[in-house]
Amino acid sequence: MLVRSVREEVTRRKEVTKLAKSLEQANLRLQELDRQKTEFLSIASHQLRTPLSIIKGYLELISDGAYGKVTKKMREILGDMDESNERLVKLVDDFLDITRIEQGRTKFSFDTYDMNELVTSVVKELTNRAKDKKLKIVWKASKEKEDIYMDDEKVRHVVFNYIDNAIKYTPKGNITVRLEPDEQGLTLRVKDTGIGFGKEDEANFFQKFYRGKNVEGTNVNGTGLGIYVCRKFIETHGGHVWAKSKGTGKGSEFGFWIPYQKGAVPKIMQPSDLEEHETDIAIPKKDTFTLASVV
Ligand SMILES: Nc1ncnc2c1ncn2[C@@H]1O[C@H](COP(=O)(O)OP(=O)(O)OP(=O)(O)O)[C@@H](O)[C@H]1O
Ligand SMILES: [Mg+2]
Repeated sequence: MLVRSVREEVTRRKEVTKLAKSLEQANLRLQELDRQKTEFLSIASHQLRTPLSIIKGYLELISDGAYGKVTKKMREILGDMDESNERLVKLVDDFLDITRIEQGRTKFSFDTYDMNELVTSVVKELTNRAKDKKLKIVWKASKEKEDIYMDDEKVRHVVFNYIDNAIKYTPKGNITVRLEPDEQGLTLRVKDTGIGFGKEDEANFFQKFYRGKNVEGTNVNGTGLGIYVCRKFIETHGGHVWAKSKGTGKGSEFGFWIPYQKGAVPKIMQPSDLEEHETDIAIPKKDTFTLASVV
């Protein structure tokens, strides 16, 4: 009896070891496929960038009349073509951002910048887009400087995406942008009176390729990449992001907190790197691509 149960135990252990080994191999294979997929996405995106720029250039020339008279109807069509081209450019840029993040090739360039100035310039840039939808952006820059040690382009990208989304997902009303200083850093809140969202969406918005249930049936285009990239950029500054809503149809708040100094430099940067202000940063692969998320 004892001998039999020992024998069974030994067999079971062997099976477990075998299973663990094959799991390990499957995992390695998945990692390799994941790497190849990111590489493919990176190469494809680079290859797409140039023809898209050429198309944009020609569209501008045609619109300006360089190849003959442009009728009203033609101008309308050229406008639609330019809009579609811009959508593709944004998509390719998002892919490039993502592949850089996943391959640890994102370049960050840190220095001290005034957040008030940064937000003001993004609001200015997006004011016309808001006006086209009869939306008002409410933003009151404070007189004080709000200096943050950051990569201004990356943080600008985040603020731009938040306000751009607020415009995109708000059929009417207004968008309020607010900066709140505390002892350690700054909170940015972008509140809108738009479509809002339910609890089922809240935890998923910052995941790659996630588009909310709230956009189903709205006819608003998107890929679900914008705020995933935002999250990565803000986390690299040692900050965090969030999304809040009282429910569908009740508006949303998208926000982030970013430290003034402490944590502004990713932990993996060495003090000696700071002098150079430009470093390749490998963002930890907390949520690497799953194969299901390949386009
Ligand atoms: N202001 C907002 N109000 C309501 N839902 C929002 C808002 N901003 C983002 N979302 C939700 O979060 C999802 C992810 O946003 P994200 O910006 O990443 O992607 P997207 O806007 O769908 O596409 P794109 O990659 O082109 O920006 C959106 O699809 C939408 O469901
Ligand atoms: Mg978006």
